Amino acid sequence: MGILGYPLGHSISPAFHTAAFHHYGLDTRYEAWQTPPEALAASVACLREVGYLGASVTLPHKVAVCDLVDELDPWAYAIGSVNTIVNQEGSLIGFNTDAYGFIESLRAEAEFEARGKSAVLIGAGGASRAAARGLAREGVASLVIANRTLSPPPALACELRDSVAEVLALRLVSSDLRDRLATADLIVNATSVGMQGGPSEGRSPLEEDTISPNCVVLDMVYIPETTPLLEMAGHSGARIVSGLPMLIYQGAAAFEHWTGKDAPIEVMFAAARRALADHVV
Ligand code: ATR
Repeated sequence: MGILGYPLGHSISPAFHTAAFHHYGLDTRYEAWQTPPEALAASVACLREVGYLGASVTLPHKVAVCDLVDELDPWAYAIGSVNTIVNQEGSLIGFNTDAYGFIESLRAEAEFEARGKSAVLIGAGGASRAAARGLAREGVASLVIANRTLSPPPALACELRDSVAEVLALRLVSSDLRDRLATADLIVNATSVGMQGGPSEGRSPLEEDTISPNCVVLDMVYIPETTPLLEMAGHSGARIVSGLPMLIYQGAAAFEHWTGKDAPIEVMFAAARRALADHVV
């Protein structure tokens, strides 16, 4: 078992998946498989061999893998990306558990139910797409997709028009965004802004004084666990959710696809926190 990505310096998936396998007394190995794009097809093909349960998939391969598996589950098909591959007797099935991880982390950490609510998603890439699909499925009433660039307008806004009453694409610098943020029930950072070691380390995608105290703010960045955005949101009294629970819950769903066993959530959280603290990242 392993995770396919490039580069993989930051991945804590081996730590928490290995802990989950050990919890069940399984000696399954789960490794970080550094896979440059030119090696992806061969690496995925290897997963068909007996003995492989499958693999996790992360950046930059989530879209390319769609074309390398034999079947896509409805979430992977709708989101257009795969984060989990299951080897079913030589046949590869691509799943996407990111939307589940996102919705479940909001539910578990902030008792947030999306039905009838308004949400602002910052970013319009793959992570934002998974969140948008999850929120649409849960019955969110209004979705604003705020992105640095709007050219071309995020295709996502168009796709969601039939399932969400109000969908709007705004530029991050738009003055309308301030009003939307002030009344939003949920604000999500689905960009890498604030990520340790990234080009926007130490920064927040939003300015001060834009977040209301009645809002839940989720940052998909999980290193550091409290990002500048979450710090700002915390100061304004909003409920905050770090990216770590989303990572664990998407991994938990993947574990269940591979093994058919209930994921040991607490064991996975503890292993992930140890890995973060030990700088095994
Ligand atoms: P992922 O699959 O993690 O979502 P992605 O598909 O590459 O990754 O999408 C990255 C998102 O983060 C995009 O919405 C990107 O904005 P652009 O479409 O304008 O490139 C956004 N993003 C990345 N760096 C950013 C920054 N410094 N400020 C604002 N948005 C940023």
